[in-house]
Parts: sequence; C-alpha cells; structure tokens
Amino acid sequence: MSKSQTTQTWKRSLPAKAVVMARKSSSKKALPKSELLIQAAAAPAANRKSETLDEICADLGACQRCKLGKSRTNIVFGDGNPKAELVFVGEAPGENEDLEGRPFIGRAGQLLEKMIEAMGLSRSEVYICNVVKCRPPENRNPETDEIESCSPFLFRQLDQIQPKVVVALGKFAAQTLLQTETRISELRGKFYPYRGAKLIPTFHPAYLLRNPPSKREAWEDLQLVAKELGLEIPKKSP
Ligand code: URA
Repeated sequence: MSKSQTTQTWKRSLPAKAVVMARKSSSKKALPKSELLIQAAAAPAANRKSETLDEICADLGACQRCKLGKSRTNIVFGDGNPKAELVFVGEAPGENEDLEGRPFIGRAGQLLEKMIEAMGLSRSEVYICNVVKCRPPENRNPETDEIESCSPFLFRQLDQIQPKVVVALGKFAAQTLLQTETRISELRGKFYPYRGAKLIPTFHPAYLLRNPPSKREAWEDLQLVAKELGLEIPKKSP
C-alpha cells in the first residue's frame, strides 16, 4: 500500500466525534477540507482517564494487537520525562530501536538529541515516542491497521503527559496526527491545536541527514517551540 493510500484509509477511520466536530465547524464558515480534518484531530481528549505511563505500558503488555507483534524484537514504548512540557513524536522504531527498546537511538536519534540540546534542553527533560511502537519489517511505512491498533496508546500517553508542545517529526507523524494529506513542507512552521497542546510539524531527523540544507527550516521550527516554552532562544543552530 502506498503512503498516500495509507493516509487515505486512515482518514476514513476518523472517530465519529471528530467527524461531527469537522461538520460543526464547517457549518460556521467554509474551510478547506484539509483545515477541517486538522481541526477534528485537535479535539481535546474527552473523559481523560487518570493513569500513569507505567500503567499504559502494562496495558500494552506483550502486544499482539497487530501483525508487527510477530516480527518485532522489543516494543518501543517511549522514554523521557513523564511530566515533559515538550514531546517529540516520530514515525516508528528502526532497527536499533527495535533491538534496544528505546526510541531514536540511531543516527537520526543522535541528530534529534543535538537539536534538543541546541534548544537548551536535555533528552531526559523531554519525552520521545513514535506513532507506532513496533518496528515495521524493513522499515516500511506503518499500515492503517497497525496505526489503528497502536495510536490509542499514543493518545493515552499524550493525555497523561499533557505537554504544552508536541513536535511531529516528519511527514508521516504530522499527517497521521493531524489527519491530513497536506505536505510536510506546507504544514511545518506553525502550531496547530492538538489534544490540549500545540502541535508543530517539522522535518524528520532522518530526512535532515539526507537533506542538510533543510536543517535551517527545522531549526526555525524549534526556535518557535523554544519561544512557546519560554526558553532562552539560542542563537546557533545544531
Ligand atoms: N525514526 C523514528 O521515526 N523513530 C525512531 O524511534 C527512530 C527512527
């Protein structure tokens, strides 16, 4: 299945409440469809349950809810500060992450750490996780059924952490979280309301490793984040 097909099918699985919200907003003023979907995804969590990240992880257990359960080595739940004001959401674990059970520990992870440090923070002060928690074989894109099985756990994590800002790393995380097919280059650079937080899409560190000139724009996005969090804005990019 192509990435755009995946997103298309995923969009069809919008929760009924989100669709109603989109319709309600559409009755006020005519917004482009992409904006309606973004608004729907932003709906704050209803009936937020009080639970710890450990409880959510325990509920995930030795998950076999989707086919990735069969091929993974370790579940990559997420790590960092459970009370973080800033959460980074990537796509899915890669090989290193699968082997160690921690997100973003390969080359892309090293760049992400530099980006975090350039904002004046340390990795342990933020929280890092992915849209899906098991490595897709050969690092293929996560498929609709996998996202549908896994994303409720991500939403529960975000609802408990209650960050001020969520950074969606890359096209896949941004399009999945905002339920839109808008290109990452159009989405990035601004905040969207998201489950009680502000979400900003930016380029994935793996993309930045392949396209170093885009680091400038990613750094601009992170400077917006730093400003939003009241951090002293460092002058130098990572
Ligand atoms: N890429 C991701 O999106 N997530 C990881 O954890 C590692 C690489």
